[in-house]
Amino acid sequence: MANEVFQRVEALITEIENATAGNAEQVEAFRIRYLGTKNVLKPLMGEMRNIPNDQKRDFGQLVNRAKEVAQAKYDALQAATRENAGADAGAKLDLTAPAEPLPLGSRHPIALTMRRIIGIFERIGFTVAEGPEVEDDWHNFTAMNTPEDHPARDMQDTFYVAAGMPAGPDNADMLLRTHTSSVQARTMENNRPPIRIIAPGRVYRNETISARSHAQFHQVEGLYIAEKVSFADMKATLLHFAREMYGDKTKIRLRPSYFPFTEPSAEMDIWWGLESEHDYRITKGTGWLEILGCGMVDPEVLKNCGIDPEKYTGYAFGMGIERQAMLLYNITDIRLMFENDVRFLKQFAGVL
Ligand code: DAH
Repeated sequence: MANEVFQRVEALITEIENATAGNAEQVEAFRIRYLGTKNVLKPLMGEMRNIPNDQKRDFGQLVNRAKEVAQAKYDALQAATRENAGADAGAKLDLTAPAEPLPLGSRHPIALTMRRIIGIFERIGFTVAEGPEVEDDWHNFTAMNTPEDHPARDMQDTFYVAAGMPAGPDNADMLLRTHTSSVQARTMENNRPPIRIIAPGRVYRNETISARSHAQFHQVEGLYIAEKVSFADMKATLLHFAREMYGDKTKIRLRPSYFPFTEPSAEMDIWWGLESEHDYRITKGTGWLEILGCGMVDPEVLKNCGIDPEKYTGYAFGMGIERQAMLLYNITDIRLMFENDVRFLKQFAGVL
């Protein structure tokens, strides 16, 4: 009885040693049969309890040898078929054939729009400033003259970083910045006027995602602080921007508005026109499109950031990128910007 089991293992070893494989599938079949989770050696190990005690050791060693032989054979078969495949490929390889063209990537429409905006302001003396996306309450709200009970602070709009997460310097309330205006506060804290910066970056709001709005988007902030900066300076700069961006005949209008951090505040529209049905739809029948918010920096904000409001004045503005990208490239759904579908992205290949 014991003898017979020994013989079965010996027979398997012979079988393994004689095995051949002509291709990768046969190598895989070999692996499954002798080394897979349900290999043929396993049930033989189960026979161990029928082996007399004084032969158990020998039997164990024999089964182990069978496993080693199987592994060695498998390695050899694998190497051999790989060589064959290599030889085949070599025979078919035409070294004189022209190379496959390398697919080129493309810039994202948000990046394209952002670069364009940054370029316009850099050429008139603005430099780029940056701030963190995970921001504290002070820089995002309080320093920007947004009182505790202001609706912009509502839990509905702001993503707060959960308590217990690694937080800022003094463990203040941390949040995902809701606008790039936070970079205004950071820049004024660390620099003396004249200050002339733009701050591009990503912002977050707890909004329902739809074709028109998203919970993450991008803004460019602008800030100019010096002596005797006037509302007229702001208007001229923004008109220059609008014409560089949308063509040198572009008309703008400023409508009175409200922002906590500016006084007076305005929103700027550009004249889009009312020729096609599409123009009607995107301008809601007015011909005007709102592009940005702006105003004279509120003296409270200057004070909060250690700048003397008696000596210095300034203007600020903030604009969304996605909507402008949608206007520039005729994109009708903002969600396309964040899905990274190559069929969408490929369309921007070669755009500078
Ligand atoms: N932070 C405002 C927003 O997110 C935009 C804005 C308006 C920025 C007026 C400004 C400004 O700097 O002066 O809607």
